[in-house]
Amino acid sequence: MKTTQVTDGVYRLSANVHDILFEGFWPIPNGVALNSYVVKGEKCAIIDGVCNWDGVPETLFAQLDQMQVRLEDIDYVVINHMEPDHSGWLEAFRTLRPQFTVYCSERAKPLLEAFYGIVDNVQTVKSGDTLDLGNGRVLAFEDIPNVHWPETMATYDTKSKTLFPCDAFGSFGAVSDDAPYDDTLQEEHIEFFEREMERYYANIVTAYSAPTKKAIEKVDALDVRIIAPGHGIVWRRDPHRVIRDYKRLSSYAEGPARPEVAVIWGSMYGMTEQMVRPVVDAIEAEGVPTHVHRVPESGLSFVLESVLKSSGVVLGTPTYEYKMFPPMAAVVDELGKKRIQNRICLRFGSYGWSGGAQRELDEINGRLKMNWRFIEPVEFKGRPRETDIELAKERARELARAVKQWVLAESRVH
Ligand SMILES: Cc1cc2nc3c(=O)[nH]c(=O)nc-3n(C[C@H](O)[C@H](O)[C@H](O)COP(=O)(O)O)c2cc1C
Ligand SMILES: [Fe+2]
Ligand SMILES: [Fe+2]
Repeated sequence: MKTTQVTDGVYRLSANVHDILFEGFWPIPNGVALNSYVVKGEKCAIIDGVCNWDGVPETLFAQLDQMQVRLEDIDYVVINHMEPDHSGWLEAFRTLRPQFTVYCSERAKPLLEAFYGIVDNVQTVKSGDTLDLGNGRVLAFEDIPNVHWPETMATYDTKSKTLFPCDAFGSFGAVSDDAPYDDTLQEEHIEFFEREMERYYANIVTAYSAPTKKAIEKVDALDVRIIAPGHGIVWRRDPHRVIRDYKRLSSYAEGPARPEVAVIWGSMYGMTEQMVRPVVDAIEAEGVPTHVHRVPESGLSFVLESVLKSSGVVLGTPTYEYKMFPPMAAVVDELGKKRIQNRICLRFGSYGWSGGAQRELDEINGRLKMNWRFIEPVEFKGRPRETDIELAKERARELARAVKQWVLAESRVH
């Protein structure tokens, strides 16, 4: 990987990772970039880290070489966020360069000890504190707790007005060293990263949408010219574009999101499946786009993204041992844990003798305080009859109209 210059005295070091599940869980078919930044005044600071996921930091050291920064030139390591995708290289770094001071938040300090046994030369900082690197370059720190761990902070270079927000304003997607900046990318490539951002947000950040909104307010109060996140591209031409993207995504969790419907369905013997196409067609005939996923075939990562973006949800699930089809129960449970609230939802599904799927859905909705509003479900014994299909289509149209009205009403308020 090549080191690139972000602006005078600020350099980007980065590694792309492909062949892993992010957080051991989320597929990244287009990879992900792990970014780190070196800021030079009289003294040198490195912000965030690049690890090869397995914690091997050679990639980082090779990139320092390229910008003729020797390890001994680095006096300060700024740890914005302790998650090992950013801090995993620290231990190896310390064996090569023992004399440096870590700047981190108060809440990061015990994590530094717990993860890497680092207790010496740790300077804790809070919002408003600064680090003077000399030559007129001063780093200012801003706590942004819970974006994404409780200890997270952002760093702001007051000279170049560059914000280093770590996970915030990040995205999935490997980044080319030849064009890591919005001003060096074609519009279609920027849009690619904005799409990758939606699944990244849905998988990694959405449970923390309230703290993310607070973080964005803090960022709004700064004069930010460049946003240099820990994942994804650097925004130099239009940092406000990614701020707007994150404002929109952080509002989706509480709803309404877009006037769209996520249709999630599962079926053992094809009975519930017979209702999927008519329901999808009825929704789309109302001019409302759908995102259709069969579970468990479609992974949770992609289902979460679709539900986050959509104001309406259809759950097609049969009854299984007096409850929902298990992969559907797992999806709904995760939606609740990710705090995707206030959706308008229609459920339909087949049962054999007792039913019970809806009871479990109501239970999860209440327990996880999802506050979803349910249109009356369409349940049928065995195979759906023509009258069942007609009823489901009617309720699907009702759902589509309710979604449109809700989004419209909210857009009038704002
Ligand atoms: C493993 C299994 C468990 C089931 N448990 C229930 C149940 O508890 N109550 C019920 O009414 N039907 C139950 N059924 C019947 C299904 O709900 C019924 O066959 C339905 O038509 C399946 O729809 P599908 O083909 O869309 O999966 C069960 C079926 C299977 C295979
Ligand atoms: Fe993180
Ligand atoms: Fe991260």
